[in-house]
This record gives sequence, C-alpha cells and structure tokens, in this order.
Amino acid sequence: MSQPPPAAFRVRPAVAADEAALIAIDATAWSSDSGFPSITRAASQPGVTFFSADSPPAIHLVAEAAPDQVIGYIRLKPPTSLAENAHVMHVAGIAVRASARGQGVATALLAAAERYAIERGARKLSLRVLSTNTPAIRLYDRVGFVREGTLAGEFLIDGRYVDDVLMAKRLESVVPEARRENTVPEARKTDRQTH
Ligand SMILES: CC(C)(COP(=O)(O)OP(=O)(O)OC[C@H]1O[C@@H](n2cnc3c(N)ncnc32)[C@H](O)[C@@H]1OP(=O)(O)O)[C@@H](O)C(=O)NCCC(=O)NCCS
Repeated sequence: MSQPPPAAFRVRPAVAADEAALIAIDATAWSSDSGFPSITRAASQPGVTFFSADSPPAIHLVAEAAPDQVIGYIRLKPPTSLAENAHVMHVAGIAVRASARGQGVATALLAAAERYAIERGARKLSLRVLSTNTPAIRLYDRVGFVREGTLAGEFLIDGRYVDDVLMAKRLESVVPEARRENTVPEARKTDRQTH
C-alpha cells in the first residue's frame, strides 16, 4: 500500500540508519528523463548500498515526514578536492519520493543545502541537470539557480543525445562579509592537489 503524502516534514542530517529508506527512494525516484538508466537499474538490485566511503551519511541531508519516514534527500560534495575550488559546494544528488512531490520538500532540502554550504565556507552552490528534467530545472530556476553552461549532447540515454545543463546559485548575498573570511575548513587549507 502506498504511503500518504506528508502533512509536515523536517530536514535533518542523515544518519547510517536511514540507509534502507534511501535505497527505497533511489529505487523508484529516477526515470530516464532525470537520471541514468545504468545507475537506476543498479539501484534496485539486491545488495545495493546507498552510503559508501565516498558518500557517507555526513554529506547528506534528509527530509523526514515522521520518525523513520524519510521522503527525500540531498547529497553535497565539493566539486573537486582542489583548495582553489573550495568556495564551491556541489549538489551531487537530490530526490524526493514520488508520493511526496509538489509539497515543497525539494525546496526545503535546497534551502537547507544553502545553509550547509555557507556553514562550510562556500560562496556558490552548483549542480548539473539533464535538459530533459523539466520539473527539476523549473525548481532550480524558481529558487534562484542560474544557467552557467550546457554540455551539448553529453549523454546518450534511451537512444537520444541529452544535454547536461550546468546551474549554480551564488551564496554571497546570504553570507555576511565577516563570515566569508576564515571559513575555509582546515582540511581544505592544506589540500595541495594539482589539476
Ligand atoms: C525534482 C524533484 C527533486 C522535485 O521535488 P519536489 O519535492 O516535488 O519539489 P518541490 O515540491 O519543492 O517543488 C516542486 C513544485 O511543487 C510546488 N510546491 C512547493 N510547495 C508546495 C506546496 N506546499 N503545495 C503545493 N505545491 C507546492 C512548487 O511550487 C514547485 O512547482 P514548480 O513545479 O512550478 O516548480 C523531484 O521531482 C524528484 O525527486 N525527481 C526525480 C529525481 C530528480 O530529478 N532529481 C534532480 C536531479 S538534477
């Protein structure tokens, strides 16, 4: 039986115990307009995991409609490990359970992601979205992301070439000048990786 849509929800940091709920969301949330069939197919295979060493709970926020009822998530990663790129945070995944859509869950996750990014010294939040993903692009436009570029024909999905749209939101306007200084995490200050 499908679960009813949430009357209210909260956004909180993910914990390891969210794994099963997040696997269930990933197994149903994506289509070939929004994601990659090769990944979507794998997401519903037995033994699949959601968290990994590269993608631990600490880089996820979840939306929860009730205790143990996770309805969406967002994953946030630095785009690279370069110190020169440390002012940018990247949305490396966002999904909401189909039955909970259209109620502001992703909007709330993106707002929480901005706070997460600002707290870690970011001045810009970036993402990539398939040009076929109309609901997501409308959402990103509405909450203030702008298009920074397009990788034309970047992916071949179900027999058609699909563009990858690069979008970003500048966070400077919401970061007080005093907080922008000295906010780069220690780990990044010592990162000397070259390109
Ligand atoms: C894209 C996605 C994350 C959006 O999630 P969502 O929770 O439905 O998003 P929101 O509810 O915040 O916003 C969607 C719409 O609901 C509307 N909405 C927001 N709050 C609402 C409310 N309280 N009542 C009714 N509608 C509301 C918004 O205005 C928005 O309208 P729009 O389509 O004109 O922009 C979701 O469709 C999804 O998981 N898709 C599959 C995965 C995916 O595409 N991820 C993005 C990859 S780049």
